[in-house]
Amino acid sequence: MKIKLIISMVVLIICSASMLQDKYELLYPNYFPSPVYDFEKNELTTEKIELGRALFYDPILSKDNSISCASCHSPYNAFAHTDHDLSHGIEDKIGIRNAPALFNLAWQTTFMWDGAINHLDMQALAPISSPTEMGEDFKNVVEKIKRKPIYPKLFFQAYGDSLVTGERLLKALSQFQLTLVSAGSKYDGVKKETAEFSDQETAGYITFLKHCNACHREPLFSTYQFKNNGLSIDSSLNDFGKGVITQKAKDSLLFKIPSLRNLSYTYPYMHDGRFRKLKEVINHYTSGIQETATLDVRLKNGISLTENEKVDLLAFLLTLDDKNFVFNPKNKFPKKILLPSEGIMNN
Ligand code: HEC
Ligand code: HEC
Repeated sequence: MKIKLIISMVVLIICSASMLQDKYELLYPNYFPSPVYDFEKNELTTEKIELGRALFYDPILSKDNSISCASCHSPYNAFAHTDHDLSHGIEDKIGIRNAPALFNLAWQTTFMWDGAINHLDMQALAPISSPTEMGEDFKNVVEKIKRKPIYPKLFFQAYGDSLVTGERLLKALSQFQLTLVSAGSKYDGVKKETAEFSDQETAGYITFLKHCNACHREPLFSTYQFKNNGLSIDSSLNDFGKGVITQKAKDSLLFKIPSLRNLSYTYPYMHDGRFRKLKEVINHYTSGIQETATLDVRLKNGISLTENEKVDLLAFLLTLDDKNFVFNPKNKFPKKILLPSEGIMNN
């Protein structure tokens, strides 16, 4: 009798804990397409997002507790890694690719420059286990998380009990990343009719629609397909992109089309960070295209632009910078959780 009572009380506590969770509605403008992430399998709640945020910023995920996801994906760089052409992991090890910016991930089905990962919930396993990134065994990460005092409580708040599992950890990381929506640039203001383009920006927009929009399609500024945009092969990296994954000749040198939002914050550019300036990128399209078998037909012979068109295009690209996203306090290091004593002092 007593045992039954205890069991039903425990059930009640668990139920009420999960009922207390705050559902989180992902907000995005009406001119965005519908997200493709299946939220039914990982329903967003404020508590799970907060857990994911703590995990994203916690270097405990790496072998020597020195590198967090945010070490390579900094909020101030739209979650890319400014100034580093190739990524830097534990023990100063250098990777082979540029860390991409992270935003609008709910609209993407394939991840990494070569499309190696086809579900966001699986993505984190790659950097955690990569010897040049976090170099850690995933099982060990779960054990370390179990032992760190803040986590059982955060897991309890998120899942209704304090059980730490790999699946919960990965889904929470996805939750935080899914909330990284960039839709607050000047371009968005124009779409929402709260801002207006200058004449130069309007001219740049027209040039953009003519030459770039087929691949960097608005309003996300990517179709998230894989294309060869005519970069020369770096003989020290010998990176064939999607071809490495599928081993098919037709995929050789295809890379995921990156979004053009937030470019001011995400330099250097391209999968290997070879260009530091947007001018260099534009000059690549006008006079640097390399002809290879898989080059996209749109780029055969390059794109012809006058000097004026180049300047206008640049002005338009800068309207895609989203300060509201980059400086959103909700996306930053969760000081109160990860450094509670300092958090109190500074608040
Ligand atoms: C050492 C630097 C480094 C660390 C640490 C790191 N990443 Fe990355 N991240 C990269 C690089 C480089 C890529 C591109 C890899 C590729 O294309 O092969 C990437 C790709 C991604 C992508 C795919 C983005 C896209 O547009 O396809 C996501 C999502 C991501 N990282 C999330 C994370 C998470 C979550 C963590 C922590 C568990 C993490 N990263 C840790 C460097 C890093
Ligand atoms: C055929 C498709 C295609 C067209 C057309 C195209 N791009 Fe790209 N763009 C890509 C691909 C693919 C990449 C990534 C290539 C890589 O890193 O290997 C890219 C990368 C970029 C980058 C780097 C972004 C980053 O975060 O690293 C910029 C900037 C860019 N393109 C601007 C433009 C502009 C401006 C135009 C029009 C003048 C344009 N692109 C036309 C496919 C295209």
